[in-house]
Amino acid sequence: MDFQQVMAEFKAYADYVDQYIEKTAETRANRVPEKLFESMEYSLTAGGKRLRPVLCLAAAEACGCTKETAMPMALGYEMTHTASLIHDDLPCMDNDDMRRGKLSNHAKFGETLAVLAGDALMVESIAYPLAYTSGVSSDRLLNAVRIFTEAFGPSGVCGGQVLDMDCALAEKEPDYVCKVAALKTGELIKAALMSGAALGTDDGKTLLIFEKYGKHLGTAFQIIDDILDVTTTSEQLGKTPGKDAEQGKINYVTAYGLEKAKEFAKEESEAAKAVISELLGEESFLAQLPMALLERTK
Ligand code: IPE
Ligand code: IPE
Ligand code: MG
Ligand code: MG
Ligand code: MG
Repeated sequence: MDFQQVMAEFKAYADYVDQYIEKTAETRANRVPEKLFESMEYSLTAGGKRLRPVLCLAAAEACGCTKETAMPMALGYEMTHTASLIHDDLPCMDNDDMRRGKLSNHAKFGETLAVLAGDALMVESIAYPLAYTSGVSSDRLLNAVRIFTEAFGPSGVCGGQVLDMDCALAEKEPDYVCKVAALKTGELIKAALMSGAALGTDDGKTLLIFEKYGKHLGTAFQIIDDILDVTTTSEQLGKTPGKDAEQGKINYVTAYGLEKAKEFAKEESEAAKAVISELLGEESFLAQLPMALLERTK
């Protein structure tokens, strides 16, 4: 599978996700105050690469579960990821007015609605797969949702964001840079793969492979995000570049420099590829994806 084929397969999954989001909008509007719904859907449909749902669907299919069955869980991941971005952009956090090439949620709707839209998307991200998943046992669904909730709680995204926002903690936290990336970004990426896999299989060894793959891929993804912050324009990135150094963030680029960060990203991507190749083969989509994501420009 060459680069073009990997990206074509990625796009096919991402289009499937986008179509599902469009098709199910009405089911989400039910009993929600109109302006809250508008704010939630604004960010959910603003674009975005759809990496987490794509990973969830691909892992599910690799483990014998259909896309249709895995899609509500995959949407849960995109909802929570979107919520984390809305909150990440708030003035009390990274203070960015641009997201996914548009005004960020608080810049468009105000801080109050942005906080609440983020909260609402996070809660809905659990309720939605529980309500709409069919064709899988409740044990498997529960396991997939358990993996998911752990990833964005205190030992996942929330914990990582706390570390990220307070670089004074770098002196107390061994491996601060690595830990921030692993928690704020890696956990959700890893969990998206594991939840997808868990819908298709109960096999512990298989889930462990997805866990290891996800850890490497998630870390690589955040390192590349740190790199893009200093190498691209806002037009390309869809968010304001140069913010990490400006805000005194300690990340892979500010701590180790651009060249070293690129080496780390490559190492992590190669490690991810090696782990999953043992299960799915070197030519599989998930084995080829880490190296393709190294080339991403947004
Ligand atoms: C941005 O995530 C924030 C990180 C966790 C690095 P993405 O780069 O996946 O953002 P979208 O979803 O494409 O907008
Ligand atoms: C955010 O990391 C990770 C999240 C949990 C949202 P960043 O702050 O680096 O993400 P961007 O660069 O604003 O997308
Ligand atoms: Mg941030
Ligand atoms: Mg940010
Ligand atoms: Mg960033």
